[in-house]
Amino acid sequence: MMQNELHYIDTHIMNWLTHLDDVIPQLIKDMSTDTKLNRFDLVTNVDKQLQNKFETYLAEHFPGHQLLAEEKDNDTIQPYEGHLWIMDPIDGTANLVKQQEDYCIIIAYFVEGEPKLSYIYDYPHDKLYKAIAGKGAYVNGQPLLPPRELQLRDAIISFGTQYINEDTSKALYDASFSVRNIGSCGLDSVRVIKGQFGAHINTNPKPWDIAAQFLFAKELNLEMTQLNGEPLDFAKSGPFIISNRGCYKAILAIINRDGGYHI
Ligand code: IPD
Ligand code: CA
Ligand code: CA
Repeated sequence: MMQNELHYIDTHIMNWLTHLDDVIPQLIKDMSTDTKLNRFDLVTNVDKQLQNKFETYLAEHFPGHQLLAEEKDNDTIQPYEGHLWIMDPIDGTANLVKQQEDYCIIIAYFVEGEPKLSYIYDYPHDKLYKAIAGKGAYVNGQPLLPPRELQLRDAIISFGTQYINEDTSKALYDASFSVRNIGSCGLDSVRVIKGQFGAHINTNPKPWDIAAQFLFAKELNLEMTQLNGEPLDFAKSGPFIISNRGCYKAILAIINRDGGYHI
């Protein structure tokens, strides 16, 4: 794929993301919340309408491109073929409902299974993180540099404690500087991308939770693998870590010492 083609698509998507600033306030004002699998599994009109708007936009401007997204049926998607968009319309829906903060929109573009464009839009803080294949990563247009190496003892790391076995959780607390969890896989990953966290771990992410991170990891020299160190398949996802190179091996050693997590 030619760089000018990618630039053309990027310009379109940037316009679409920018126009959300006029759309989201009203959606939030009219917010209605439903539950899905259980009372903790939330979805709102904001999630559904942002996804519907993006689906309509793609159909109009890029017909033939596929969309794999959280709030739709993805049965007919051929993820490794042609042009594929992966979207989490709101990542951190519980934060949106309970705090109106710490949620983001995740969009990633793959061509023939290769990541080409990634966007993580931290709307409440007006920060748009973007990665372009071969061109690096940016926040609001300013280049992001690969973070300096962080040793585990100096690093804040992030994971949902409920999915890490108690002994392993304690071992990670003891070996690291400290533990935080924002509750949005995209924004927890952004902290690693910016060098603020050493790593983020999610034992059961879905493709839309981690789709954008592949390209950021590639462009910024981060580790992003399954928890057993094997490569991650963007279409299947599975237990995942995105990590600074300085602490990646030490974290995996602790997690795998006694099979330290569940999904
Ligand atoms: C969730 C958040 C959360 C993570 C869950 C995700 P959602 O996404 O990213 O931090 O722990 O695994 O499902 O449901 O808010 O889009
Ligand atoms: Ca999500
Ligand atoms: Ca979501």
